[in-house]
Amino acid sequence: MKAAVFERFGEPCEVLRIAQVPEPTPGPGQVLVRMRYSPINPSDLLTVQGAYGRLPSLPATPGYEGMGIVEKSGGGLLGWRVLGRRVAVINAVGGNWAEKVVIPARQAVPVPDDVPDEQAAAFFVNPATVLVLAEKVLRVPPGEWLLQTAAGSALGRMMIRLGKRLGFRTLNVVRRTQTAEELRSLGADAVVDTSREDLAGRVRELTGGKGVRFAIDAVGGQTASDLVRCLAPGGRLIVYGTLAMEPMQLDQRLLIAGSKKIEGFWLSDWVRGQGPLTMLRLFRRIFQLMREKVLTTDIGAIYPLDQIAEAVRKAVEPGRSGKILLKLGSAGRQ
Ligand SMILES: NC(=O)c1ccc[n+]([C@@H]2O[C@H](COP(=O)([O-])OP(=O)(O)OC[C@H]3O[C@@H](n4cnc5c(N)ncnc54)[C@H](OP(=O)(O)O)[C@@H]3O)[C@@H](O)[C@H]2O)c1
Repeated sequence: MKAAVFERFGEPCEVLRIAQVPEPTPGPGQVLVRMRYSPINPSDLLTVQGAYGRLPSLPATPGYEGMGIVEKSGGGLLGWRVLGRRVAVINAVGGNWAEKVVIPARQAVPVPDDVPDEQAAAFFVNPATVLVLAEKVLRVPPGEWLLQTAAGSALGRMMIRLGKRLGFRTLNVVRRTQTAEELRSLGADAVVDTSREDLAGRVRELTGGKGVRFAIDAVGGQTASDLVRCLAPGGRLIVYGTLAMEPMQLDQRLLIAGSKKIEGFWLSDWVRGQGPLTMLRLFRRIFQLMREKVLTTDIGAIYPLDQIAEAVRKAVEPGRSGKILLKLGSAGRQ
């Protein structure tokens, strides 16, 4: 079978190649999934660059999420229950950018019939992060502002729609004017375009000088440093991404005055602390909010696996609109 493989860490468009590899065999408690689609997420690219929080031994195949059809079970009740079904493939160790993959049966999540393949492919990483950050980590009350950077990302757009659904207001930071306009038409409550506006000044203006109690950052560098200036007394900033690949600079007096907090968030860590029932409830809620068009992903383009270099190049293009998906095999309903 074909898989995208990298033998050294480096720029994804340089180090990824398509290789013929043996088809894996599922062991007890595992299933073999014939993959259909997998998105190219920042976490996949960071892994190939050797810059992610957890790295595979090489050679390796990237891909933490995606969807496909369960083709074989290696034994066990869970595997038997999902055999032949369309599933979202949550792959904590990576490996989904291949025609087939073996995963623990409990990480093959059956997809309801009314959720299309392309949406199911991006079912977990961003939707779960949005829900967990808003509802469980920050618990943003209705009417409050949530300040977010990289607001034009797939995740940022979901957060805007979730805000509308739950009643909190989003204050969205973007780096280009075209994205600002798109987000306003999506229903963003406020947008700050850092190519034209001063972030801290604009946030003070929008919040009557108070600042915000809730903020999330996926950028780092200067943007994250500026965000700390936007916090109200008691405010919390959750850092969850490293898009700028630059560290934030911090004058710690900004945290001391007003007892503000900066915290890290990684979905993998959160998931490790949850029981099966919580995960089942989370899956159900994500599918429901997908049906209601809240946690949906805009798809920018779909590339066949053979065009991996072009696909990853497109995925890192500034100003790209929509998520890039890899098509890993024959698509279409079974
Ligand atoms: N911690 C976790 O558990 C967790 C889970 C899920 C996602 N994440 C993180 O969430 C972030 C968004 O993921 P996604 O899949 O939604 O991303 P995405 O759809 O690929 O979008 C990336 C966005 O980042 C913006 N961007 C890139 N570099 C930037 C920079 N230097 N300064 C400002 N903006 C920049 C781009 O803006 P332009 O349109 O202007 O190019 C684009 O809107 C990523 O950092 C990802 O790693 C973290």
